Amino acid sequence: MADIYDNVIELARRRGFVWPSSECYGSVAGFIDYGPLGAMLKRKIENLWRNFYIIQEGYYEIEAPTIGVESIYIASGHVKGFADKMCQCPHCKEYHRADHIAEEHGTPGADALSIEGLKDCIAGLPCPSCGESMGEVEVFHFNLMFKTGIGPGAQRTGYLRPETAQGIFTDFNRLSRFYREKLPFGAVQIGKSYRNEISPRQGMIRLREFTQAEAEIFIHPEHKTHPAFSRYADYVIPLWGQTQQMAGDAPVTTSMRGAVDSGLVANEYVAYYIALTHEILMSVGIRPDRLRFRQHLPTECAHYALDCWDAEIYSERFGWVETVGIADRTDYDLKAHAAESGDAFTVFIPFTEVRTEERRRILPDMGALGPKYRGKAKAIADALSSAEPTEKGATVVVDGKEYFIPSELFEIREETVEVRGEEIMPHVIEPSYGIDRILYCALEHAYDEEEVEGEIRRILHFPPPIAPVQVAVFPLVNRDGLEGIARSVTEDLTTHNILTQYDDNGAIGRRYRRQDEIGTPYAITVDYDTLEDHTATLRDRDSMEQVRIPTDALYATLEGLISGRTRFADLKNEE
Ligand code: GAP
Repeated sequence: MADIYDNVIELARRRGFVWPSSECYGSVAGFIDYGPLGAMLKRKIENLWRNFYIIQEGYYEIEAPTIGVESIYIASGHVKGFADKMCQCPHCKEYHRADHIAEEHGTPGADALSIEGLKDCIAGLPCPSCGESMGEVEVFHFNLMFKTGIGPGAQRTGYLRPETAQGIFTDFNRLSRFYREKLPFGAVQIGKSYRNEISPRQGMIRLREFTQAEAEIFIHPEHKTHPAFSRYADYVIPLWGQTQQMAGDAPVTTSMRGAVDSGLVANEYVAYYIALTHEILMSVGIRPDRLRFRQHLPTECAHYALDCWDAEIYSERFGWVETVGIADRTDYDLKAHAAESGDAFTVFIPFTEVRTEERRRILPDMGALGPKYRGKAKAIADALSSAEPTEKGATVVVDGKEYFIPSELFEIREETVEVRGEEIMPHVIEPSYGIDRILYCALEHAYDEEEVEGEIRRILHFPPPIAPVQVAVFPLVNRDGLEGIARSVTEDLTTHNILTQYDDNGAIGRRYRRQDEIGTPYAITVDYDTLEDHTATLRDRDSMEQVRIPTDALYATLEGLISGRTRFADLKNEE
């Protein structure tokens, strides 16, 4: 087969899956338009993802703005640290990611190198655009966030969000109340994220505007056992841990139970979402032999993350592509927002039994403090409550000034108090999916071509639930009442929410080919026999086999096929 990428992209453009954005004005790299079939395919992948995270897991979806105020991204660290290392070719003036140049010339993991290290590494290498030697080129940081001004005169600085996650973190306290302060709970968000990528030359893989589907799952820091772990405990997949990567060994094929027990994966939550991600990617048609789960190496893993795995999908053009990241982010995000905003970002967890504790309470004598400290008396009284008094008195700081308060101005009372629970800052498990990358890989893995009767048949082998069009209906000819029956079959299917395309244009063989190349899994042909026996031909895209089905049983049959309850081969056997 010729370069599969060129074939896939040619088909995707011609049949309305993906187009360059604003083509009539000369498109800009890093932006794409989804055409009618692409938008439908994308929605189906997103809805399949929702079936897992919202329906199966019970994590509700929220929708936060795509523009966030600066404080959010100061807290998250994006203002200070969300930068790639860039260089500019002295000849053609093109900007490039310095680590990508280094990697293309044989330095793996170059994104972990320092500015100086990268500078040495790329010295004298050719510019990817003009091919001239770049010599001793400078390397500098470039922040990837798109900055904007909010309101007239840009009174407040804002940023287009670089990830959907922050909207969930900033809503943490409201979400906690929504879930009645019971851990674990989670929320998900699907939407656009924006990164001003330096030189996005990888089509749909590296975009400046892309769709993320992220889940933030808030769990008790000391209870990292997933309540439904048994669902995936025996799920077996190959995992490529740090140890195997560093020793040059192959991935270990293990059950999720085995992965947690052996310490390969940090805890049940991370293992559970690795398996769930595997199931999702299988459902969108990713080939199992072209999918791997790779643990971040110590140089890649964020310092606060306890464990981090990427689902990487193999692309003929791009090699292994990171499509999903699954991380235990500890309490890093909540702590950061608590510090920046002053809010608590904790959950009150009741003890199973009420505990008693001895506590010391400091009771200020306001009658004496008032006249002595006047306007400062209230603040001094407040500060006393957390002071460490000696026999002589206590030192407190108010408005930056130290005050020594003699012991006769307050009373120390030892009390036995009942404690019903404690404030806990949850840890966060984050599975983060890049929908555009998954969609591209699903297209590439679905694409196939074969020679049939001297012609090339192009097929997209999409799993039926994600195929943009699920059924095609053809009248054999456009007369003798066949078109009327075909139209009423179409109407019956569409009223049952099956996306059906009616096509009466051209020879039947041509119509089949048109549907094969957009991945329509089933086609119905109404012919002259239909007038006699009220059956129609149902054709399977993959095997090209056909069966006759009564027209009044078509919906039930197709519903079984699309949901996966029925196999086409079983229908053949029943004939
Ligand atoms: N909240 C965590 C986070 O955003 P990430 O690894 O930066 O983590 C998650 O992004 C996923 O988003 C990636 O695995 C990838 O699939 C997708 N993604 C990231 N940058 C992208 C880009 N420039 N174009 C397309 N997809 C991208």
